[in-house]
Amino acid sequence: MTEQINSLEEYHKVYAESTQNPKAFWERQAKTFTWKKPWDETLNWEFETPKIEWFKGGQLNITENCLDRHAKASPDKIAILWEPNDPSAKAKKITYKQLLDEVSKCANGLKANGIKKGDVVVFYMPMVPELAIGVLACARIGAIHSVVFAGFSAQALADRVNDASAKMIICSDYNKRGAKNIPVKKVVDDALHLGCPSVETVIVHQNTAENCDFDISHDIWWHEAVNDQSTDCPAETMNSEDILFILYTSGSTGKPKGVVHTCGGYMVYTCYSFKNVFQYQEGDVYWCTADIGWITGHSYIIYGPLLSGATTMMFEGVPTYPNPGRFWEICEKHKVNQFYTAPTAIRALMACGNEWPEKYDLSSIKVMGSVGEPINEEAWHWYDQKIGKGKAPIVDTWWQTETGGILITPLPGITDTKPTYASYPMPGVQPVLLDAQGKLVEGNNTEGLLCIKYPWPSMIRSTYGDHQRCKNVYFAPFKGMYFTGDGARRDEAGRIRVIGRVDDVINVSGHRMGTAEVENAINEHKNVIESAVVGYPHPIKGEGIYAYIIADGHQGEDTAFAESVREVVKREIGPIAKPDQIVVVTGLPKTRSGKIMRRILRKIAAGEGDKLGDVSTLLNPEIVEEVKRKASEV
Ligand code: WT7
Repeated sequence: MTEQINSLEEYHKVYAESTQNPKAFWERQAKTFTWKKPWDETLNWEFETPKIEWFKGGQLNITENCLDRHAKASPDKIAILWEPNDPSAKAKKITYKQLLDEVSKCANGLKANGIKKGDVVVFYMPMVPELAIGVLACARIGAIHSVVFAGFSAQALADRVNDASAKMIICSDYNKRGAKNIPVKKVVDDALHLGCPSVETVIVHQNTAENCDFDISHDIWWHEAVNDQSTDCPAETMNSEDILFILYTSGSTGKPKGVVHTCGGYMVYTCYSFKNVFQYQEGDVYWCTADIGWITGHSYIIYGPLLSGATTMMFEGVPTYPNPGRFWEICEKHKVNQFYTAPTAIRALMACGNEWPEKYDLSSIKVMGSVGEPINEEAWHWYDQKIGKGKAPIVDTWWQTETGGILITPLPGITDTKPTYASYPMPGVQPVLLDAQGKLVEGNNTEGLLCIKYPWPSMIRSTYGDHQRCKNVYFAPFKGMYFTGDGARRDEAGRIRVIGRVDDVINVSGHRMGTAEVENAINEHKNVIESAVVGYPHPIKGEGIYAYIIADGHQGEDTAFAESVREVVKREIGPIAKPDQIVVVTGLPKTRSGKIMRRILRKIAAGEGDKLGDVSTLLNPEIVEEVKRKASEV
């Protein structure tokens, strides 16, 4: 069994060992899994190319570790506990044995439809058990899964399908969200219409009784592809460094990149971090409210918990349906022991009033997690007092799509917690702060750029189809380091607080968005000449999207025009990227070399237009007054 730290003393001991002798430490964790062939070399790495190989030469299948070993040891234990959108519908309990059978059937169905090792399968689905089953079925046969969040538009879906040359898309007919059924298959049809030449087959899971278009030349129903298949599907032999999945995420350039994770290291790290960060104990019910379309859902709804033999809950719906007590009602109903959510959800529910959590018995909750963005003090205290009743430690977990698992976090009941601080590195994780010149910032009570100086097993291996980009973004900025893109502060006791992105990436409700990506979308509008997007503090979303636009034939406040811009962004990316604020201007502040001065735009968006300092060196200093005036009018 993967080790679990039980005391502060042990944390210090394990941390020291894991950094003094990382290979021995990770080798010991890796030995607790089922391997088809042991590895020859624990770690081979250099951050120049970069080339990172964990458990090289080892062979395994991650699903044997998620499913077979638990199905054998405790077949009737609940693996997935599924809570439907409709509160009056019955929850589904899927045991480890049943999950193994369902995954095997699906895997055989994929094979029967031409999917083999190395093929890419895109998922575009709501939070239904079939999504987890499909993802694991890919892993079973060595196909690479690429889950696309079902809120992305047809264009965004097509971009991701094409970047990975996916051979198949698996979707649902509709997504049940609150009182609405949102068409999902229709978006897939639209994406195919835009052009996805690599796609041969679309598997459609029937989630509602509503009709959807169905083209028998390439569509096939999930139940027809899967239901009659055999429950026996041998697990494909995978090399430790074979690709397990791709997950697209935004960066500071316009095009999202496919972050590549591989089998062996990802397995070892997600299991180790899950067991330790959530202090999961046998019999506990664990609930992470994330969507599987993001890395949190991959690592801490599917892989980490199942590798640990845990009961992991999946929730189909939204936190406010049928009322803002839904999360707390579910916690009471299923006696949830570990609850993991995002600051944006905490703030939104906090705004609905204390009467909602007060209606329910939340005494089963032992550990509460936060992820995705910095958690502000007010939300931290509300979470601590109103949900945890001061008795359930909060783990503010810092990590990224690229890190694969949680890297900086308190350990509940073991280390201390401090509001807004992710605090301490996990065993094997060596964070450092650098100044802009790349010089190490030493000592406490300091700030700098957050980098990691030594590999950990679940780190990014490449960006799909473009390894150079992986180097440029993460490894070239500072020699010998993985650069996170975040700025951080270290307090007097060495705890780390992650402040936020230092690049042109904004974090909207815990979703990462490239400002260039949103600008590209806005620029698709026929009347837009130029645009500049920045983030600004938003009470619920953390950061909101603020767009400055130069437009043909539009000036000042123009609600119809602003709405038409939002529609274009929704079409190009999806509703999550719609600008909250739109200001139409006649020019943008630029440097003499023609670069947009985002610093000025950020200040104005934050309502700090009176704190701009000297702007006389700009190419067009006169524009600043106009931008300020128009911003104050929206
Ligand atoms: C970015 C990564 C990790 C899964 C969800 C988001 C920010 C994440 C924290 C935290 C402060 C955080 C960072 C990071 N972030 N967790 N606990 N405190 N900031 O994954 O989309 O890859 O975004 O989210 O800025 O770089 P992601």
